[in-house]
Amino acid sequence: MPSIEQAPARVVVLASGAGSNLVALLAASADPAYGAEVVAVGSDVEHAPALDRATERGVASFVEPLSAHPDRASWNRALADRVAAHRPDLVVCAGFMRILGATFLQRFSERIVNTHPALLPAFPGVHAVRDALAYGVRVSGVTVHLVDAGVDTGPVLDQRAVPVLADDDEASLHARIKDAEHELLADVVGRMVRGGWTVTGRKVTIP
Ligand code: GRF
Repeated sequence: MPSIEQAPARVVVLASGAGSNLVALLAASADPAYGAEVVAVGSDVEHAPALDRATERGVASFVEPLSAHPDRASWNRALADRVAAHRPDLVVCAGFMRILGATFLQRFSERIVNTHPALLPAFPGVHAVRDALAYGVRVSGVTVHLVDAGVDTGPVLDQRAVPVLADDDEASLHARIKDAEHELLADVVGRMVRGGWTVTGRKVTIP
């Protein structure tokens, strides 16, 4: 069972975009009782606003662009080294838009969390909100899950439903999903770092 050796737990966040989920984690971790500290923020995108959110709060940041490497394997190794330098107990992909390869997954096995803006296994991939709307579902939501080698296929940690409204477009639905996502991600990460978690096949138990 993955457990946390130190308190507060050390969390490295990976983000490619705006960083609103990162901000939610930073806000939650401001409370010492939360049990986690975001020790670094990494990105594959040089000028990702998420990096500014880290810098504004005095959190270390780093960039590892895929384009700086001859192939994905080399990028994965380099990213894993950058993350490992911060000795994380948990790695949280918060809007990180790249697939992590085997080297990375092995190095942080069962300690990588991702948040996805749909109720998996429905609508995996980068256009989850658009795809859910196009399908015409009446309920979508957010899934926080452990990362495995597939695209949004890892064991589910928790989910929250968000109703789709008749006049929703991609932006309005995603905004409401993000509201739920910020709460759920902070809640799940907090429970994991405070109580540990057990993975049995696809079933994950968090106290
Ligand atoms: C989130 O909805 C995440 O699930 C998806 O992209 C969005 C990133 O938002 N993959 P932010 O960068 O945390 O604001």
